[in-house]
Amino acid sequence: MSSTVKEKHVDRSATESIRPAGTFYIETYGCQMNVADSEVVAAILKKHHYYPVDDPEAADVILVNTCAIRENAEQRVRGRLQYFNALKRKQGSHKVIGVLGCMAERLKKKLLEEAISDLVVGPDAYRDLPRLLPEAMSGHKAVNVLLSREETYADIRPVHLHSDGVSAFISIMRGCDNMCAFCVVPFTRGRERSRDPRSIVDEARWLYDKGYRDVTLIGQNVDSYRWTGPGGESVDFADLLARVAETAPDLRVRFSTSHPKDLTEKVAMTMAAYPNICKFIHLPVQAGNDEVLERMRRGYTREWYLDRIRMIRRHVPDAALSTDIIVGFCGETEAQFEETLALMEEAAFDHAYMFMYSERPGTYAARFLQDDVPTEVKKARLERVIALQRRLSLQSNRRDVGKTFEVLVEGPSKRDAAMWRGRTSQNKMVVFPFEAGTAPGRYVNVRIDDCTSATLLGTIQPAES
Ligand code: 5AD
Ligand code: SF4
Repeated sequence: MSSTVKEKHVDRSATESIRPAGTFYIETYGCQMNVADSEVVAAILKKHHYYPVDDPEAADVILVNTCAIRENAEQRVRGRLQYFNALKRKQGSHKVIGVLGCMAERLKKKLLEEAISDLVVGPDAYRDLPRLLPEAMSGHKAVNVLLSREETYADIRPVHLHSDGVSAFISIMRGCDNMCAFCVVPFTRGRERSRDPRSIVDEARWLYDKGYRDVTLIGQNVDSYRWTGPGGESVDFADLLARVAETAPDLRVRFSTSHPKDLTEKVAMTMAAYPNICKFIHLPVQAGNDEVLERMRRGYTREWYLDRIRMIRRHVPDAALSTDIIVGFCGETEAQFEETLALMEEAAFDHAYMFMYSERPGTYAARFLQDDVPTEVKKARLERVIALQRRLSLQSNRRDVGKTFEVLVEGPSKRDAAMWRGRTSQNKMVVFPFEAGTAPGRYVNVRIDDCTSATLLGTIQPAES
């Protein structure tokens, strides 16, 4: 063990009298699934007497849970790994540097050959960490990148290392069977599988009892959640949503990510039926032109997508919508790109994540399509979608000025400690002055007085009697 461990960094709560196996520090990149996975890893390690520390210098084991979705995500991780290797040399220690997650799965042993890591563990192999870590700590390189058809970590209660105590993710499924042409995820996370609904509901109840008031059910494609029990009973995503919503009326339930080809009317109706299911859907469209969508192998057309939105609005008129957009996919012409802009206007998205297409080795697009849109053109298109979305977000926020929303308080505002922040059911961030009785996990009514494109600004209103 490193002798530089500072007492204040060490959480010895559960295992006071047991000899520690070491300390670990974990850093997470990429999506919500990775955040949830790091919490599973922390739980596995704590159970085996490794203690979390929040300073990499004090750690015997540094773990980086990585993302491979775009080239620049991998570059960022490589920069961090170089930094950790330099730290290890500087300290002259026997630190283990481990790569977890999607880059581990994509690059496998190459990461060992490049000498930037001692341990490589893919997303389905975290239960093997207690065996692999001692190997790596004794100087042997250790790898497990086996993908599984069953693993859902259903029985592992995550350890929330960096939590606000109000919001948490619950992983409901793993993997992805969609095979979108641009996407590396099916290769890094394997086949789709759903988690036992009882363990999901139990986790929601456990979180609620600990004071959490907002859970997000996460998976690469939540709409294809399906569990078939031993007696043949079948639970689909809408059924699961209802079951989790029934945990408690003041537990907010969110979900992400939906796929336009699989999102059902039953899900929208379930959202409408339960006030505590948040009125917000993240529905990635990726592009607004049918030929591009077909090349992307998304399985729907522009019209189908717009029809899904109409369907959502019919059942949930106050729903907010966000999306993902890729610009500069293989063969995208200027006219095709402009259909993306037009679709964004038509859908009036409240929020969007926007990316330049980045070719990923092994995907359908890398094998069969030409990455032929020049970087300069991609950049210019990205700027245009960002500018448009900023305008749409501002318009959406302006429509909220003067209205009053129920806001779940998350904590003090990051910018100004005299202000507090929380979110509406529609997932909009609201900032408001502190008032007595305001505390994380409480609900307050906030009247919106002003806004930017990113935030609503308001004042707490007295509770209705
Ligand atoms: N290049 C750019 N963006 C991508 N995404 C997935 N793969 C790529 C890629 N190769 C985006 C999609 C997806 C989001 C998570 O990341 O928009 O919905
Ligand atoms: Fe990144 Fe996709 Fe892996 Fe999430 S699933 S970490 S977004 S590559």
